[in-house]
Amino acid sequence: MTNEHGNGLFVTVEGIDGAGKSTQIAMLKAALEYQGRRVCVTREPGGDDLGETVRNLLLSGAAIDRAELLLFMAARAQNTERVIRPALAEGAIVLCDRYIDSSTAYQGAGRGLDIATIEMLNVFATNALLPDITFLLDISPRIGLGRQQVHSAMEREGTAFLARVRQGFLAIAENSAGRIVVLDAAIPVNDLHAEILQFVSKRLQVDPESNATV
Ligand code: TYD
Repeated sequence: MTNEHGNGLFVTVEGIDGAGKSTQIAMLKAALEYQGRRVCVTREPGGDDLGETVRNLLLSGAAIDRAELLLFMAARAQNTERVIRPALAEGAIVLCDRYIDSSTAYQGAGRGLDIATIEMLNVFATNALLPDITFLLDISPRIGLGRQQVHSAMEREGTAFLARVRQGFLAIAENSAGRIVVLDAAIPVNDLHAEILQFVSKRLQVDPESNATV
């Protein structure tokens, strides 16, 4: 997998349901735009029109596990090619609500599908596009579920399922320490935002790979 992509910065946000990803993405977008940066927000499943159609299919909850995985991958392929890569090529900061790690954690650790197969499909779906930085907003399923007013199909799987997903995310983070930053999502929203903004600002100042400012 590669994360060499033009002048843009590719940021993904991961975590179990109720971790506060959408709130943090909205706050980060506002802060970066205030600094005059170009920001593109996208989400998975979703992205372009086809990705959003796949999202509606997925959230209806009718798919068997392998079909579900492949639908997430189809939406991911659309999102990567139609939304993320073009935005990065234009030098935007892309903020993506869920990406490859959600499939490994939910379909792998959660559903029990083969992790190596999921990783292979992630490479195929994205044409090997890795995020520059991934924030894993870590929270206990009990607190996460307590925050949600409407429960999605995944949340209805219950706390045991989400506990496996959480452990799955943490295991991925351990193996990808250079890319994934684990943050405690139980702290106050503004404190978490400050931490995330600090990491992103540091990455924007100097890109250690190219030694150029982004
Ligand atoms: P969504 O309503 O977007 O939840 P959230 O706001 O918490 O992201 O629904 C997306 C659901 O799909 C969520 O429960 C996580 C799940 N999901 C997977 O199981 N695998 C994946 O690859 C992705 C991207 C999401």
